Amino acid sequence: MSKLITVLNGPNLNLLGKREPEIYGHDTLMDVEEECSGLAQALGFSCRFQQSNYEGQLIDWIQAAREDSAGIIINPAAYSHTSIGILDALHTFEGPVLEVHVSNIHKRESFRHHSYVSERAEGVIAGFGVQGYSMAIQRMATLLQGK
Ligand code: DQA
Repeated sequence: MSKLITVLNGPNLNLLGKREPEIYGHDTLMDVEEECSGLAQALGFSCRFQQSNYEGQLIDWIQAAREDSAGIIINPAAYSHTSIGILDALHTFEGPVLEVHVSNIHKRESFRHHSYVSERAEGVIAGFGVQGYSMAIQRMATLLQGK
């Protein structure tokens, strides 16, 4: 089995730490990447951490993950609420998918309450700040180890 976990981040998450810190906190995406990589390694996995502001790029990376990744963790950001293309791409992936949101999307504007990606995700983590990514890595390791 592949030991690679692909972690995907959608639009505007490159600005994590600078963007609306009252909602998303002060940690940067690089901080999150370091945390995820360290934790994945400690659990016997590796992680490929990617961010794009473009829907098609995220779809290409999901398709690439079909070839080499055991699981996908995705924060689709605004595309959560709009993208059937990302949902369709995730449906072509055979391993587990976990969805992460830094903020609690259910406590925010009603247009954020629905996520297309949730229809494919084994689990959704929202509102735990960037700690949600570590929680997702932990859960992914458990799922992949078949526990
Ligand atoms: C987000 C929530 C989305 O509604 C928003 O568009 C984002 C980030 C989150 O991590 O809380 O860009 O996915």
